[in-house]
Amino acid sequence: MASNYSDKVMEHFRNPRNVGEMENPDGIGKVGNPTCGDIMEMYIKVKDNVIVDAKFKTFGCGAAIATSSMITEMVKGKTIEEALKVTNKMVVEALDGLPPVKVHCSVLGEDAMKSAIDDYLKKKTGKGLPGWQPHNEEHEHGH
Ligand code: FES
Repeated sequence: MASNYSDKVMEHFRNPRNVGEMENPDGIGKVGNPTCGDIMEMYIKVKDNVIVDAKFKTFGCGAAIATSSMITEMVKGKTIEEALKVTNKMVVEALDGLPPVKVHCSVLGEDAMKSAIDDYLKKKTGKGLPGWQPHNEEHEHGH
């Protein structure tokens, strides 16, 4: 059977970047995917407003692993403001696409990253990301 996944997705799934926990992270994000119940944790290290390291851990599917691997690679070296502009759509594009039923999995990575930045800002300034809420809180009862 032919795979529905692009070579890049398969490559990041088989060989994910930045998996694991981080010691003394500056921000921790934890989110759940309302569609499937999978969960994701993301950790960032920030220096002079730049994300110098990012890691993730997930109980999620292959698409969640591949997209989180990609988003951690994409935000490294970016300022907080630049990292906030990285959307799940950009991640999916960088992976040469995902099957439509798996696009929700990429939202998990974006939410976890935003949640980690929110946590970082809260610790640093006492205020989180203005108006930000993970998707799971918005559609708590959705499936
Ligand atoms: Fe749950 Fe993909 S099926 S994150």
